[in-house]
Amino acid sequence: MNAPWKSGPQGRDNFAAFLCDEASLEILRPVAAEMGWAPEKCCKGGLRNAVQSLSITSSPNILMVDLSESGDPLTDINSLAEVCEPGTVVIAVGQVNDVRLYRDLLGSGIHDYLLKPLSPGHLRDSLIQAQAIFSAPRHQESHSDKKHVSTAVIGTRGGCGASTIATSLAWLFSTEPKLATALLDLDIHFGTGALTLDLEPGRGLTDAIENPSRIDGLFIERAMIRANENLSLLSAEAPIGAPLLTDGAAFLQLEEEFRQAFEMTVIDLPRNMLINFPHLLADVNVCVVVTELTLAAARDTIRVLSWLKTNVAHAQPIVVANKVQPQIFEISRADFEASIERKVDFAVAYDLKSATQAAKLGQTFAEANKATKTGAALRELAQAVQSSGNADAEAHPPKPEVKKSLLGKIDIKAMLAKKTAKTTVPA
Ligand SMILES: Nc1ncnc2c1ncn2[C@@H]1O[C@H](COP(=O)(O)OP(=O)(O)O)[C@@H](O)[C@H]1O
Ligand SMILES: [Mg+2]
Repeated sequence: MNAPWKSGPQGRDNFAAFLCDEASLEILRPVAAEMGWAPEKCCKGGLRNAVQSLSITSSPNILMVDLSESGDPLTDINSLAEVCEPGTVVIAVGQVNDVRLYRDLLGSGIHDYLLKPLSPGHLRDSLIQAQAIFSAPRHQESHSDKKHVSTAVIGTRGGCGASTIATSLAWLFSTEPKLATALLDLDIHFGTGALTLDLEPGRGLTDAIENPSRIDGLFIERAMIRANENLSLLSAEAPIGAPLLTDGAAFLQLEEEFRQAFEMTVIDLPRNMLINFPHLLADVNVCVVVTELTLAAARDTIRVLSWLKTNVAHAQPIVVANKVQPQIFEISRADFEASIERKVDFAVAYDLKSATQAAKLGQTFAEANKATKTGAALRELAQAVQSSGNADAEAHPPKPEVKKSLLGKIDIKAMLAKKTAKTTVPA
């Protein structure tokens, strides 16, 4: 199931409402549900109940309050302001049709005033607007002072453990430094990100691919699946009969939105995506190249590293040898390093027991390996990715304005209209 976010990024509820009469609540609840918010957050009560409730709990992102039972709405709104945390977008509801009151309310910082009886259409419009307003300032803040590290994890051969490392890294970022982390599984048909985290992939990524113009902060918030407090996932399980036919606009747009909404992005990037969508790596800070110590993997490590050097020169590659066994290998680590003409940065042991345990528990390999040497190696890798990513993010900050104008030149909606049949990954 596509579980919507229970709360906003700071642990606040997305929405709460206090309406005096059952008739209004009945109109509001389905609209709130449509927005992905819990209908239980639509409570019976008025402004006084809202003030009481907010004096003991944190404020929601969007608050709807009924002024019908308030003798002096303007004074009461001020008492609400005292208990409301900054940033909350307040929509007032009432039965007084008075332009002066409306103006005064807006003047006191209320976002909108809706007249009873409520209509679902007006409610929806007002809530969508409120959501946009709530998201906007946060985005600007993150532009100026928040660094974002985007990491692509690329396997040199199928089965070498790229997805295992990608999910582990994302889980580590989200639990140890507790960074807001997005995991994007771009193995559209056979991805295991959701499976590893014991989640259903939902339709988020499929919707994004079908409709890139819809991708914005709100979409991200609704479409991503929560794995834990700080980790959100976007993945798909596209039917085998449905070829991936997209120009890649959705992936770029997703990367851009992740940069605003998260501190870390981990992309599980199947190597053939490099061929079809090389631009996916343009703003990536770190490329983790996962390999096994085999002849074929040595050949493809050389080729992937060389491609990265030419096409993503700024991003530091980190080579991880996975499934390493002390006595059993096709090529020794030394010979492998000689043939790729550089060091292997990290070695992760072959550990069948932990891998099995992780699968059984629906945990990432890193989580199942918390207390082992392998776990320590994975944590070191996570730290290296973070510091290398931070260094690159500082040296090469992405240029959103250039990118925006570039995207602005492309009429994605028009392109989509022409290509809808082609760009669809039906579920
Ligand atoms: N270090 C390891 N030790 C044991 N098994 C591993 C290790 N890394 C990955 N695996 C297992 O190898 C299989 C393939 O891993 P996966 O991450 O799906 O590879 P890829 O994404 O590169 O195709 C999975 O069953 C996984 O549990
Ligand atoms: Mg994989």
